[in-house]
Amino acid sequence: MSDFKPLVFSGVQPTGNLHLGNYLGAIRKFVALQENNDCMYCVVDLHAITAQLVHEDMPGQIRSIAAAFIAAGIDPKKHIVFNQSAVPQHAELAWIFNCVARIGWMERMTQFKDKSGGKNAEQMSLGLLAYPSLMAADILVYRATHVPVGDDQKQHLELTRDIAQKFNIDFMEHIRRTDYGIDIKVGDEPVHAYFPMVEPLIGGPAPRVMSLREGTKKMSKSDASDLSRINLMDDADTISKKIRKAKTDPDALPSEVDGLKGRAEADNLVGIYAALSDKTKQEVLGEFGGQQFSVFKPALVDLAVTVLAPISGEMRRLMDDTTHIDGILRDGGERARARADVTMKQVREIVGFLQ
Ligand code: TYM
Repeated sequence: MSDFKPLVFSGVQPTGNLHLGNYLGAIRKFVALQENNDCMYCVVDLHAITAQLVHEDMPGQIRSIAAAFIAAGIDPKKHIVFNQSAVPQHAELAWIFNCVARIGWMERMTQFKDKSGGKNAEQMSLGLLAYPSLMAADILVYRATHVPVGDDQKQHLELTRDIAQKFNIDFMEHIRRTDYGIDIKVGDEPVHAYFPMVEPLIGGPAPRVMSLREGTKKMSKSDASDLSRINLMDDADTISKKIRKAKTDPDALPSEVDGLKGRAEADNLVGIYAALSDKTKQEVLGEFGGQQFSVFKPALVDLAVTVLAPISGEMRRLMDDTTHIDGILRDGGERARARADVTMKQVREIVGFLQ
């Protein structure tokens, strides 16, 4: 196969308000990657019904994620912005992956354990258990190679590699009989395969943005306290209030990154500042080392408002024009379906289905 190219893929669930963790861990990276890559950014609505089946305003939720992508700077003409359910091939490949993956792999996922509260696993939907299999299908139905995500998705991407590898091995002889295979490396071993080994893109100063109330807990849509997170749609006063109330310790900021060890809240705020200003944590400490939070917090408020206000303003404008957003999603869906169709025809042949 000669024209195999790198491809960036990522997805965001349309469940609840987007927050600063989603923005810094994912969406801001999506924007940066579009300069030099072919990118596909997906609103994963099929995933959104795994934990909660019925949603108050699903169409509005889907539009708001697409609006966030575009307001943050993603160009839907050069790249593909679409919603998952518009491309039925995701679910088709996920079914095949359900038969490749093992139940034990799914039960070991920490997100499944967290969401099912351990003991309640049997009461959860079958979809929630199979969630990572659909996620692997999202990525591999385009044979994508690079996936920008926050740190909490790392285990799911390892599983995506495991599924790809098992498919490649289980169907090795079948793949050889076609000319769809690619030469990849697994570790140092050259392997003839169909699916690539995806590379997670997790780095940066804020791969896991923590709660503003508790530095050891992830910032999350589902936290009961709204003060724990900055929502992308928060206005300047709310952002200012939440940062002023953010938990900290009484010490001044250190001058070196090492000095942030054991100071989870300080580390989090410095990481947020660094990510919002495209600096390293060390550069931020170079500027603020030795200063009290009474100096650092107002600077962080100014920076957060400067970066987020134009995005939320543009999101509001876009969400008022549903015809425009729906047109972008429809166009993206069509282009995505055309790509997924190529893969699925090949996968059906490799598996041995008549078509
Ligand atoms: P979701 O919708 O929970 O989150 C979207 C993105 O935001 C990142 N994120 C964070 N990053 C840093 N700090 C935080 N506190 C934080 N909270 C969330 C997530 O890591 C994610 O990148 N399973 C995925 C959606 C998905 C997907 C995919 C992603 C479905 N299919 C294929 C990549 C490729 C999820 O639930 O993301």
